[in-house]
Amino acid sequence: MRVLFVCLGNICRSPTAEGVLRHKLREAGLAGQIEVASAGTGDWHVGKAADKRSQAAAKLRGYDLSAQRARLVSRADFATCDLILAMDNSNLRNLKALQPAKGKAELDLFLRRYASDVDEVPDPYYDGDQGFEQVLDLIERASDLLVIELKGRL
Ligand code: 4NP
Repeated sequence: MRVLFVCLGNICRSPTAEGVLRHKLREAGLAGQIEVASAGTGDWHVGKAADKRSQAAAKLRGYDLSAQRARLVSRADFATCDLILAMDNSNLRNLKALQPAKGKAELDLFLRRYASDVDEVPDPYYDGDQGFEQVLDLIERASDLLVIELKGRL
């Protein structure tokens, strides 16, 4: 099974979700069965490491994002992924525009799927450190529920 997180730049929110989910899957003993990746709908940061502020905030909670590099989402992702989770409604709209008529991937809004009180992970890029903490809080909570769903789908 393959899960893909998508945000705008692929340097803040979706790399954080990738690192958090990968860590939680390892803890749950599911690392070998589920692949996790992330991508962006915009190409400004392709090939770059995650934003230093995302890396620092994640590291303090035990998540290592240092090996991840930004890439652009593509139509091929809809054939190779089972679940594509967008960080906000704008990302979801962009993904729907890219989605081929045929493709196995299920497309959804990450937080809405996991019954959060907010639907979107806010873009922290132009925010202070608090924005990056909020991104982690939202992603950690939804990821716990995502792990339960994935376990049930294996
Ligand atoms: P992300 O955050 O979508 O969570 O990676 C952003 C990163 C960069 C930009 C916007 C959002 N940017 O405009 O360069």
